[in-house]
Amino acid sequence: MHAPDDPAAILEDIYRRLDAGVRDRESPLHTPSLGTIGLDGTPRQRIVVLRAFDAQEPCLRIHTDSRSAKVAELAADPRASLLFYDHGAAVQIRIEGRATVHGTDAIADAAWEASRRLSRICYGQQPGPGAALQAPGAFDLPETDEAIAAGRANFRAVLVRPLALEWLHLRHGAHRRLRLAFEPGARLPSTARWLAP
Ligand SMILES: Cc1cc2nc3c(=O)[nH]c(=O)nc-3n(C[C@H](O)[C@H](O)[C@H](O)COP(=O)(O)O)c2cc1C
Repeated sequence: MHAPDDPAAILEDIYRRLDAGVRDRESPLHTPSLGTIGLDGTPRQRIVVLRAFDAQEPCLRIHTDSRSAKVAELAADPRASLLFYDHGAAVQIRIEGRATVHGTDAIADAAWEASRRLSRICYGQQPGPGAALQAPGAFDLPETDEAIAAGRANFRAVLVRPLALEWLHLRHGAHRRLRLAFEPGARLPSTARWLAP
């Protein structure tokens, strides 16, 4: 990959990779690490599936369970990060932004409607993610359609709106690092700065 030293082209490159990350389950960008701030201030990360990317806002969407620790963490502090690495292209993409958690609105309804049965099952798990178990397999997954549908109450769509995108491309002899910053609510970055890699 030979990206030109042009911030607009690099923004396009980032968006193209994020699009592929949503559509292609084999893409290295399909499963980023989501970072949140723990309730005690500890940085916390976990792998999630990238479900949607909207370049117009811009905004990324992931899905999670209301009972998981990350939901309480985002309620206390909406600052979030997403980390991607495209090994084949030697491109790292770091996103810092603000998350909103959606459970009962049209955003959550549409995300649930578009989910496959297999994806929906985990939201009916009892007890919820993170609960202490008496034995390794002492949890249940729903089996009937009714029980799977009841998992909707635990389903959350999380939107992350970037305030900064950082692109790092490792290329022998010509590493490049670009930081793009957004004003809250802005569609396009307000600044583009080259940084030492
Ligand atoms: C490949 C992979 C994909 C995952 N996708 C998701 C996901 O989309 N949403 C989610 O909440 N957890 C997902 N998980 C589980 C999380 O990594 C994490 O263990 C779980 O959400 C509990 O995190 P928390 O206690 O920090 O909230 C995934 C794990 C793996 C290994």
